[in-house]
Amino acid sequence: MPEPTLDALLHESRRFDPPAELAANANAQPSLYDEAARDRVAFWERQAQWLRWDTKWDTALEWEAPYAKWFVGGRLNAAVNAVDRHVEAGFGDKVAFHWVADGDTDRRTITYADLQREVAKTANALTELGVQAGDRVAIYMPMIPETIATVLACARIGAPHNVVFCGFSSDALKGRILDADARVVVTTDGQYRRGAPTPVKPAVDDAVADCPDVRHVLVVRRTGGDVQWTEGRDVWWHDVVDKQPDTHEAQAFDAEQPLFMMYTSGTTAKPKGILHTTGGYLTQVAATHRYVFDLKPDTDVYWCAADIGWITGHSYIVYGPLCNGATSLLYEGTPHPGDQDRWWKLVEEFKVTILYTAPTTIRTLMKWGHELLAPYDLSSLRVLGSVGEPINPEAWVWYRTYVGGGRTPVVDTWWQTETGAIMITPLPGVTSTKPGAAMTPFPGISADVVDNDGKPVPDGGGGFLVLTEPWPSMLRGIWGDDERYRETYWSRFDKTYFAGDGAKKDDDGDIWLLGRVDDVMNISGHRISTTEVEHALVGHPAVAEAAVVGATDPTTGQAIVAFVTPRGNVAEDESKGEAFVQSLRDQVAKEIGPIAKPRQILVTPELPKTRSGKIMRRLLRDIAENRELGDVTTLLDPTVTDMIRTNLSESAGGDGDGT
Ligand code: WT7
Repeated sequence: MPEPTLDALLHESRRFDPPAELAANANAQPSLYDEAARDRVAFWERQAQWLRWDTKWDTALEWEAPYAKWFVGGRLNAAVNAVDRHVEAGFGDKVAFHWVADGDTDRRTITYADLQREVAKTANALTELGVQAGDRVAIYMPMIPETIATVLACARIGAPHNVVFCGFSSDALKGRILDADARVVVTTDGQYRRGAPTPVKPAVDDAVADCPDVRHVLVVRRTGGDVQWTEGRDVWWHDVVDKQPDTHEAQAFDAEQPLFMMYTSGTTAKPKGILHTTGGYLTQVAATHRYVFDLKPDTDVYWCAADIGWITGHSYIVYGPLCNGATSLLYEGTPHPGDQDRWWKLVEEFKVTILYTAPTTIRTLMKWGHELLAPYDLSSLRVLGSVGEPINPEAWVWYRTYVGGGRTPVVDTWWQTETGAIMITPLPGVTSTKPGAAMTPFPGISADVVDNDGKPVPDGGGGFLVLTEPWPSMLRGIWGDDERYRETYWSRFDKTYFAGDGAKKDDDGDIWLLGRVDDVMNISGHRISTTEVEHALVGHPAVAEAAVVGATDPTTGQAIVAFVTPRGNVAEDESKGEAFVQSLRDQVAKEIGPIAKPRQILVTPELPKTRSGKIMRRLLRDIAENRELGDVTTLLDPTVTDMIRTNLSESAGGDGDGT
C-alpha cells in the first residue's frame, strides 16, 4: 500500500459527521471553542479546577518567552490527584486497570484502593532507599502494574521519574541515567515478549557499571530465573516494597515541581531530556483526555495501547486517565504474527469503548485482513484515536470501517513529547472529520502553519507547523541544556515554538500533518534521529563514513536506510558480505536498541556530496525510495549515484526487525 501523495491527501473529500447521539451527550460541545477563544488563560484555569489543589494559584500564567510558568503559587500532589482523591470520593472499589499479561498468560485487576496501597508502599520503599524530593529515578520496566506504581510513587514524593523504554539498549540507558544523574534505577529481572521470557536486568547491570552515582537498583521479579546480583546495590522489590506500610502521607508540591523527564531524539546524536512539571501538565492531559476521547468515567473502558516508556504512555495511560478516574485496560503485549486476533478478543471481553493506538499498528492489523475481526463483537467501541505519525486516509477509513463498525469517530491527535499533551485534534462530538487530517487546535491552543519568514500561510498553503502561544503542558526545558532548548524550538521564529513538522492548511483552514522537516525519522511512531544512527554506525571499527535517511515504508511509516562507506583496510568482498552488514546492524542495536536497526544498509565506496562537502541526503532518500533523481548538478561526482544505485539493486533487504 503506497503512502498517499500530497496531492491525493488534498483531494481527499470524504467527511464523517459525529454520530448524533454521541454529539448530543459529548463532554465537549461546540461552545468549548468559543469559551476558550474568549479568554484562553481563563479557559485553562477552569480546566485546572478539575484537579485537587492544596493551595490555589495566584497567577495563572507567567510568560517570558521561551519560559512559561503555569498556575504560579499553586500547590498539589500528582499522585493524590491520580489516585487518592478518587478513593476518598468513594471510588476505591472502582477498577483503575484491568491488567492482561503478554499473550494473556496472567491477569490482575487493580482498583483505585489497590493502587493507592501499592503507590504508598512503593513511595515508602523509595524513601527508605534514600530518594528525596528532587532526586531523579530511572525506570526501565515492561508494561506491568509495578511500573505504574513506581511512576506514581516518584510523583508522590516529588522525585522526577525518567522512564526509559525497555527496547533501548544498555548504552542508551546509561546515557539517560548519566544525563539525568539518577540515583536509583527500578527494573525487572526479565520481561515477556511474544510469549517468551527475555532478560532485562543485564542491560541495567551493564549500564550501571559506568554510573558510579547510582546507589540502588530495585528489581521486580517478573520472569524468575537466575540474575546477577550486586550486594548492597541491588534490592528485590518483594524484600523492600512488600514489607512497607500501605499508607503514605503525601506532601503538596509547587505547580512547577519537575514531574518527569523523557528523553527523545533530536537532530544531534545526543537525546534531549524533555522536562515536564506538575500543575499545567496534569491540567492539560486530564482535559484533553476528557474531551478528545469523550471519557465517561462511570461507563467507559479505555484502552491506550502504547508503552509507558513513551510520552503517550505517560500522558494517556497513567496521568490523564487516572486524574479522570477512568477504568483502563493495560495490555503487556504487542500485536505480532503469532497472535493476530488478541486485540479483538480483548476488546470483546472487556467491552472496550475507547481505543487509542498508532497508524503503524493500524496498518499492520489491516495487512492481516479485516476477516480476523469478523468473529468478534466490537460494538462496545465508540471512539477511536490515532497518534504518533501522519495517518494515511486508507488506514483511517479502514480503522473506522472495520474496527469502528462504521459508527465511531476517529480522532487523529497531533502532539509531541515536548507538548506533553494533545494539541491538534478533532473533538468526537463536534468535528466533522476528514480521513488523514488532525483538523484543528484543541480549545485553548494556538497553532498555525507559517512560511520561511514566519508568516501564516493562507488556506490551501503549506509550511511549518508552529505553536504561537504557551500552553499548560509545554516542556519547561531540556534537562541541563538551556541553550539547546532555545536553539531547537525558539530560534527559528520569534517567540514562537517550532515543532519540526511540515503541515498544510486545506481550503477550509483545517490542518494536515506532513511529517518532519528536520533530520528526525519516525519509525513506527518512534522518533529516531538520522545523526544518532550515523553516530552508532561510525562507531563500528570498519566504518569510515555513514549517512542515514528515512525512506517511506508501507507499514512502519518510515524505515531507516543507511549508506555506509567502509574504511580502506576492509576488503571489498568482505564489505559486501552479509556478515559485515549484520555486524553493522548489531552495532546500531547495541548503541541505541533494536528499534533503530536499519531496514537496509548499503555499502558503497563513496557518498554523494555537494561541492562544499555536504552529504546530499535528499538524493540518498530518492535513491532509497527509488525515485527519479532531481537536480544533481551541485554533486561533486555524479557517477557516485550510479554506483550507489547499482549496489542498492544488488543488496538484499534488511530483516526489518522494528520493535
Ligand atoms: C512527532 C512527535 C505524540 C506522542 C507520540 C509521538 C509525529 C505525532 C502525529 C499525528 C502526524 C504526528 C510528529 C511529531 N506525530 N502525532 N497525529 N499526525 N504526525 O511523540 O516521539 O515526541 O514524536 O510525531 O512528527 O513531531 P514523539
